[in-house]
Amino acid sequence: MKKIILALDVCDFSKVEELVRETIPYIDIYKVGPVSFLRCGEKIIRTIKDSGKEIFLDLKFYDIPATVKLSVKSAEELGVFSLTVHSMGGEDMLMAATSVKNRTKIWAVTVLTSQVATKEEVIRRAKLAKNCGVDGVISSPLEIALIKKECGKEFDVVTPGIRLEKPDDDQKRVASPEVAIKEGADFIVIGRPILNAVNPVEVLRNIYDRVG
Ligand code: C5P
Repeated sequence: MKKIILALDVCDFSKVEELVRETIPYIDIYKVGPVSFLRCGEKIIRTIKDSGKEIFLDLKFYDIPATVKLSVKSAEELGVFSLTVHSMGGEDMLMAATSVKNRTKIWAVTVLTSQVATKEEVIRRAKLAKNCGVDGVISSPLEIALIKKECGKEFDVVTPGIRLEKPDDDQKRVASPEVAIKEGADFIVIGRPILNAVNPVEVLRNIYDRVG
């Protein structure tokens, strides 16, 4: 699968349609989070599926175990490729999420890339997620190699906090696409560096040519 996941953090459905149409050669998985899902709902899921592509549903479930279990079941019915839970929810919540039969792939957020974190804290959460049967984690580029070393190569590491230049926004633990891939990321998640570019497709193509 292609390594770049495009975060569809846009409010307007016609913009979603345009982005999917124009980026199809470079993307296999689109990330749908609250920004677009709350506005477009299942319409966005259908649009992506009709294009033959996959959905990473990034709603970061963080709730009591019973609610998270039902949320994972609901996501399964949407037919998404993967979804996120927050490791902060703890062992019982993570176990409830992974107990769902025929479930989609589950990735746990370790610590948000907009927060400063120690490597120890990130590893502690990655190991907790792994022990609860989670399939991988969302973590910054700075921890990829260590997570792979501690949790094994098969444990997915999906990496936001990708920046083409020094960030002047909310992301704190960042690196370039090349560094993240070299460190061993299975997927890199990119939003604003592409979405806010004057020519988003050109920026994406350029990254794609470098990391595939
Ligand atoms: O615009 P930017 O490239 O920062 O987008 C990163 C995307 O990844 C956003 O949609 C954000 O919600 C998501 N994300 C993140 N850090 C995490 C988990 C998800 O930035 N730990």
